[in-house]
Amino acid sequence: MKKLKPLYEGKAKILWETDDPRHMIQEFKNDATAFDGTKHEKIEGKGVLNNRISSHLFGLLRDKGVRTHFVDKLSDNEMIVERLERLPVEVVVRNVAAGSMVKRLGIEAGRKFVPPVVEFYLKDDALHDPILSEEHVRALGLATEEQIAELKRRALEVNTIMGEFLRERNIVLVDFKLEFGLKDGELVLGDEISPDTCRFHDASTGEIMDKDRFRQDLGGFIEAYNEVLNRVSS
Ligand code: TMP
Ligand code: ASP
Repeated sequence: MKKLKPLYEGKAKILWETDDPRHMIQEFKNDATAFDGTKHEKIEGKGVLNNRISSHLFGLLRDKGVRTHFVDKLSDNEMIVERLERLPVEVVVRNVAAGSMVKRLGIEAGRKFVPPVVEFYLKDDALHDPILSEEHVRALGLATEEQIAELKRRALEVNTIMGEFLRERNIVLVDFKLEFGLKDGELVLGDEISPDTCRFHDASTGEIMDKDRFRQDLGGFIEAYNEVLNRVSS
């Protein structure tokens, strides 16, 4: 498979067109950004770790029957993915209060949600990815009523599968963000699943094992990502 031109370059990844119209190459960069890109660093080794972790987690979901865009790991920092029609919506699932929810609602971090909270955000950097109600998603024509229900169902299914898998590896799945696309009218899970897009806490110590280490300048970033890889590949 030959890389042609980048179709889309984000903060942490590049999506390349290939000579195969059905497939793309998703390249993981070393760039770490936070707070709308105002904090930005290159972290040697991050791309490779996120590609490995994402490949494992997509493989897990595929084995459990979840339709994803993941085809195969191609190289250290690249995976082959199916070409999808982009849906500009981010779906966040929260099991434990953290991050923007704590700030927005003034609640205490660590509060548990049973059942989990599902949220939608508009994928639009210029608007700072605003939160959307289901009514907004429908009114803006981003998804139909049926697709909204399906997005929630799929996101909660991913939460159940990953939550259990990680619990067995002594990791609490605090929250995460998913992106879906359409292929032949069907919703397919896309993007990545990594410590950049999830919050992972050590179940015994509470230690932060995700991008919050970068956001909060906690140090030990690569060590934490490495530990996540060790646990998900064991
Ligand atoms: P938040 O607390 O900042 O809203 O983030 C919730 C989860 O979604 C967290 O696991 C990080 C992830 N996330 C992304 O992957 N990309 C984003 O742009 C944002 C805002 C959050
Ligand atoms: N919003 C993302 C984050 O902080 C990345 C960014 O803002 O650049 O997780």
